[in-house]
Amino acid sequence: MKQQGLLISMIMLAQTAFGQSGYDTKAKELVAKMTLEEKASLCSGRDFWSTKPIERLDIPSVFMTDGPHGLRKAVGTDFTNSVPATCFPTAAGLASSWNPALLQEMGVALGEECQANNVQFLLGPGVNMKRSPLGGRNFEYFSEDPVLAGKMAAALINGLQSQGVGASLKHFAANNQEFERLSNNSVVDERTLHEIYLPAFEIAVKEAQPWTVMCSYNKINGVYASENSLLLDSILRKQWGFKGFVVSDWGAVNDRAAGINAGLDLEMPGNGGINDKKIIDAVNSGRISMQRLDEVVTQILAQQLKTHALHKEGATYDKDKHHSLAREVSSECAVLLKNSNNILPIEKKKIALIGNFAKVPRYQGAGSSQVNPTRIANVYDALSKAASVTFAQGYTADATTDDKLIAEAQQEAKNSNVAVVVVGLPDTYESEGFDRSNMDMPEAFNRLIDAVVKVQPNVVVVLMNGSAVAMPWAGKVKGIIECWLGGQAGGEALADILTGKVNPSGKLSETFAVKLEDTPSYLEFPGRNGTTIYGEGIFIGYRYYDKKKVAPLFPFGFGLSYTTFAYSDMDISTAAASDTDKIKVSVKVKNTGKVAGKEVVQLYVQDENKTILRPEKELKHFTKVFLQPGEETTVSFELNYRDFAYYDEKVHEWQTSNGQYNILAGGSSADLPLHTSMKISASHVLYPPLTRNSLLKEFAQHPKGKAMYAKLMENMSSMFGGNSNSTEKLTPAQEDAKKKMQTMMITILNEMPVSKLVSMGGGKFTDQMLDAMLEQVQ
Ligand code: BGC
Repeated sequence: MKQQGLLISMIMLAQTAFGQSGYDTKAKELVAKMTLEEKASLCSGRDFWSTKPIERLDIPSVFMTDGPHGLRKAVGTDFTNSVPATCFPTAAGLASSWNPALLQEMGVALGEECQANNVQFLLGPGVNMKRSPLGGRNFEYFSEDPVLAGKMAAALINGLQSQGVGASLKHFAANNQEFERLSNNSVVDERTLHEIYLPAFEIAVKEAQPWTVMCSYNKINGVYASENSLLLDSILRKQWGFKGFVVSDWGAVNDRAAGINAGLDLEMPGNGGINDKKIIDAVNSGRISMQRLDEVVTQILAQQLKTHALHKEGATYDKDKHHSLAREVSSECAVLLKNSNNILPIEKKKIALIGNFAKVPRYQGAGSSQVNPTRIANVYDALSKAASVTFAQGYTADATTDDKLIAEAQQEAKNSNVAVVVVGLPDTYESEGFDRSNMDMPEAFNRLIDAVVKVQPNVVVVLMNGSAVAMPWAGKVKGIIECWLGGQAGGEALADILTGKVNPSGKLSETFAVKLEDTPSYLEFPGRNGTTIYGEGIFIGYRYYDKKKVAPLFPFGFGLSYTTFAYSDMDISTAAASDTDKIKVSVKVKNTGKVAGKEVVQLYVQDENKTILRPEKELKHFTKVFLQPGEETTVSFELNYRDFAYYDEKVHEWQTSNGQYNILAGGSSADLPLHTSMKISASHVLYPPLTRNSLLKEFAQHPKGKAMYAKLMENMSSMFGGNSNSTEKLTPAQEDAKKKMQTMMITILNEMPVSKLVSMGGGKFTDQMLDAMLEQVQ
């Protein structure tokens, strides 16, 4: 795998470092030969999935299609029918593997399938944060944590693009719900946007340079994503160095000319010429400059030329091999949540497999990402090959149950040594296009589990769902496996885990709350009157549960194994460093059990300074390691500036606080046995400029304002401290009361804008005096 990784890196280097500038030059040459009409025509699709060719200039059309976990190429104009393709697990599961190397391999496979089907761009992956477990597309997104989501996306993109197929990182940005998804206004404060909702995109752009980024439908702080120059131009292109083109989500364009000026390049799908005409008119009227249009067309064209140069005519792929890879990926995604008395793996026992999903699995989500799988494996068939299995349907295809189905299930459970109940969420519960209304599984599923538990003490519940569910029965069953939407080979992967052929190694990529009322955005999701206020700010996922001390059902990063791991010997390269230094941290992890297994070593940073409100801890790095029984390895991480920094909206920049930080490591956000403390000195602390409206306390904190503050306070002491020239001797009690009064007055004054000293100073302090003072602190 390592060698393949190296090869991919080399290919990518060749494509980007040496190749990209060649495509840019070629694109520029072609743009110079185009008429205005031809340029405008390249700014939108020819139809739903392809772009327009320009035959006279030998410019070909390119084809783009969904979706993140498999190829969904529609057959002709029939949207309900797509070519067969390998359906891998969806992103919720993929992130739970915490295995970027595996995602890179999956990306390669996706690229091969795209090449075989003459597809130049695959529309994914999606890295939006899971703000609420109710988000309808949570199954398609990786995580509630930006580092995990960003790293997984970067790996997938690198794999895909190594095959000459472009990724489309989506949906940029703050697109975290389906309710009114084409129009809602996500109101997100600047710090939250930078610390939570943007970094996954940033990591993927910086580490994988996707050939396209897809802007979302929604508005962000009042401006449509498709015409948001702050996001598309200042941040994406200028700050992060994005080199590809921005494509609209399908139908996300609002004002086409505004979009061109803001940084939106390609409009999809085709608009029948309507918006192309608007571009032409805008150039003619001067609203769009020709130079800007040339930039847009060059950006689109350069990537298109690249995909064409890298197109592999007549390419094929090995369906069996890809199915096997899907099985491996799926088995790494599954998270073992409970395993009392080591009920799993099930060895040489009679198993009652209960639940319709055991034969007709839920393995992917609905909407644009829906793949037509090359085959579908179910756990009943797969497990029957390895164990003695009986089956009871338990519930109907539309998730209802009746006394007869319950009685049959109980009968099978009684006649076996262990009952495995396969439930989760039906298709109709979660989909692109609408959000869930609660966290519950269908009533029939909970009822079935309760009934089986009554007759069989050994019950394992298997979940097939795209987002967290409530588990009122969690305390009553011995085993729980979260399989997510495991793709076409999910049934086989599950059988491998149940029998112990594969040791589970997934860790939760999102927190499972006990109940919906405990979730961070409970009061604000999905908003009202066209507006969604991200009121919980930076406290989403485990950042919220940690801070509020709300115990989750299962914490972020948690997952059991059939073996055990011990952590020891945390080592740090320095106990005191500048925030610009690279700091090395290493830990030892040992497999202390009897079987081989994989462990995800997670590293979190905790700011001990308490100078600003921060999460208790934040994930910064992780690595997955494979260890034989008794084997020990050392895992190393390198910490950098951003691992300590927070986004300071007052100066619109990342900053660090001077002082103590803790570095924590372990196998779950809730179990971090190793920690060490270190001191960081901030290399550059930025302060907002001092103005008439700055508060007095801001002068006190500002290096240039301190002296002015002291002077002002001295002058004001007579106002609140009595006459300092008074010779009257105070008793100790009077002294004490005076001091308390002074402290109180300072506290009150500190909250005042300095300009109030003029308006409330009774004429003693004038505007001229204030201006003169302010001049000195600039
Ligand atoms: C979805 C995108 C998808 C596009 C094309 C949109 O409705 O939001 O994720 O890529 O359709 O199918």
